[in-house]
Amino acid sequence: MKSSSSITNDLLLRLNEEIGAQLVSQVPLVGEVARYTIDSGGKRLRPILVLLSAASLGYEERRAVQLAVAIEFVHTATLLHDDVVDSSAVRRGMSTANERFGNAAAVLVGDFLYSRAFQIMVDVGESDVFRIMADATNAISEGEVLQLANVQNCKLTVGSYFEMIRAKTSRLFDAAAMLGGIVSGGSKEIVTDLGRYGTHVGTAFQIVDDILDYDGAESEIGKKPGDDLAEGKVTLPVIHALEHGSRGDVKVIQEAILADGASGLASVVDIFRKLGSLDYSRELAQKEIASAEQSISSLPESPFKGCMIDLARNSLSRIN
Ligand code: IPE
Ligand code: IPE
Ligand code: MG
Ligand code: MG
Repeated sequence: MKSSSSITNDLLLRLNEEIGAQLVSQVPLVGEVARYTIDSGGKRLRPILVLLSAASLGYEERRAVQLAVAIEFVHTATLLHDDVVDSSAVRRGMSTANERFGNAAAVLVGDFLYSRAFQIMVDVGESDVFRIMADATNAISEGEVLQLANVQNCKLTVGSYFEMIRAKTSRLFDAAAMLGGIVSGGSKEIVTDLGRYGTHVGTAFQIVDDILDYDGAESEIGKKPGDDLAEGKVTLPVIHALEHGSRGDVKVIQEAILADGASGLASVVDIFRKLGSLDYSRELAQKEIASAEQSISSLPESPFKGCMIDLARNSLSRIN
């Protein structure tokens, strides 16, 4: 039997072929910026999710691959815009598109990728697909704005944090899983289960991303650790430490969140270690993964389902 990694490698080959075919533009700069970002070594998790969930139900390959490309384009567009908004200079171990080509080119090519994704969906011609993607992209924008509105908000609650990451990150994971189900003719119940699985994986994925921002190495995460603190983002470990720290701890964290740049990073990490804030965050991510596995318990057993379980578990132990 094929291993999970060889199944996903085969899917990746098909996906990357189709991505190349869909990146054609009359305007050379569009192709240059889009390729620079798309070829820069993203993990392709969301399109893999489309393909795995489609394959687990019998696979309508051509349309599943098209939708996988559309999902990766939407994801890439959100990253292009996100790096402008967050003033990030490094992603996937390289200069971000905004750093290399400027903010204007990054935003405009992000728009190109969004709209190309919708052109691909027109080709697929399935109204449920449209509805899911229109709702997901709209929610992502709202999630990003919600995050912006909560910059430096040291009163952010765990509930509001979850609401925010559900919108900005997990909506695209659940859309990916549902699209695969729809394109393979899955029942309403199965598509709902797949959506639930995607929600939980996406939530865990963002929690881990927020942990890695304090706990990861730049050479592994391909991004600058400490960026969240520098931007005043109040993420799960910060909320935990603000709730459980001494008065002195809270003062150090608040000052670091309110300061320009990542000054205070080392002291904040020390406080997290003392209070177990990263372990607490990891435990919540772990619960999400257990719920993700539970959500697809009714999916027929297959090597593809096995890959979906591996994908969920790997998003917990990931280092990049
Ligand atoms: C980055 O997502 C954005 C988040 C939701 C944290 P990924 O880590 O999946 O990005 P790439 O595509 O692999 O670079
Ligand atoms: C990721 O958000 C972008 C979206 C989900 C739209 P973050 O700002 O937390 O992710 P990174 O750290 O830049 O990848
Ligand atoms: Mg960012
Ligand atoms: Mg981040």
